[in-house]
Amino acid sequence: MQQPYYQQDLALVHHLGYGFHADLCAPGILELLRPVLARGSEVLEIGCGSGLLTRYLVDAGHRVRATDASPAMLDLARETVPDAEAIEVLVLPDDPVPPSDAIVGIGHALNYLHDAESLDRALVALANALKPGGVLALDLCDIEWGTARLDVTNGGRVGEDWAIVALFSVPTPDRYVREMTTFLRNDDGTWRRDDERHDNVLIDVGRVPALLAEHGVEAVVGHAFGNEELPVGLRTVVGRRPE
Ligand SMILES: C[S@@+](CC[C@H](N)C(=O)[O-])C[C@H]1O[C@@H](n2cnc3c(N)ncnc32)[C@H](O)[C@@H]1O
Repeated sequence: MQQPYYQQDLALVHHLGYGFHADLCAPGILELLRPVLARGSEVLEIGCGSGLLTRYLVDAGHRVRATDASPAMLDLARETVPDAEAIEVLVLPDDPVPPSDAIVGIGHALNYLHDAESLDRALVALANALKPGGVLALDLCDIEWGTARLDVTNGGRVGEDWAIVALFSVPTPDRYVREMTTFLRNDDGTWRRDDERHDNVLIDVGRVPALLAEHGVEAVVGHAFGNEELPVGLRTVVGRRPE
């Protein structure tokens, strides 16, 4: 069986270097969740990673069940948000999704699933878990994510004690592949290397509202949760199950 994405080193590099996405998305998501906060209900976060968005949600007063497929990410989340209601493994699309008053997820966790069929299955599981009056807020990479990056073949970032280099490819219109190498400084000053390949499935996000509607959730696709500017090809799906 394939190891989960985001082993220890890449999880730490994500935590140290990629918090900007949660910083961007948090204000819009907090606004969407305002009615949920008023009811004191519990928020389920999927693909919570190291807890970067979770931190915002808990600071705003939400009770959050933060979940992810990567044990290494969850270890970091336990340090980032020790005051979350729960931090636990939930691997989509097959793990049971607890009934929730709100379900949120950023960083396109569902695009990590094997194929479009699995991604649809995860969306249906989330829709079915949403209680009446509940709010859904997710981001997803569209097919446009790949077409917008056909000419971008590599990239890299460097921090104080870490670095990452990545090779990108779009082998077919519905696949986005990143081959990433991380470097982290050990306590004795030496550096260690690790490698991960991430295969993302890209979908026509425009068809998601019809799928969710079949399961009682009214949703719209957008380019932002609030006023933030998100990368080209990333879509937001914001939905609600009527009372
Ligand atoms: C790009 S990271 C985003 C993490 C975090 N939401 C953030 O914005 O910092 C994508 C996350 O999706 C998680 N993920 C990947 N496949 C998953 C699956 N099948 N079920 C649940 N989470 C998954 C990864 O472990 C990772 O934490």
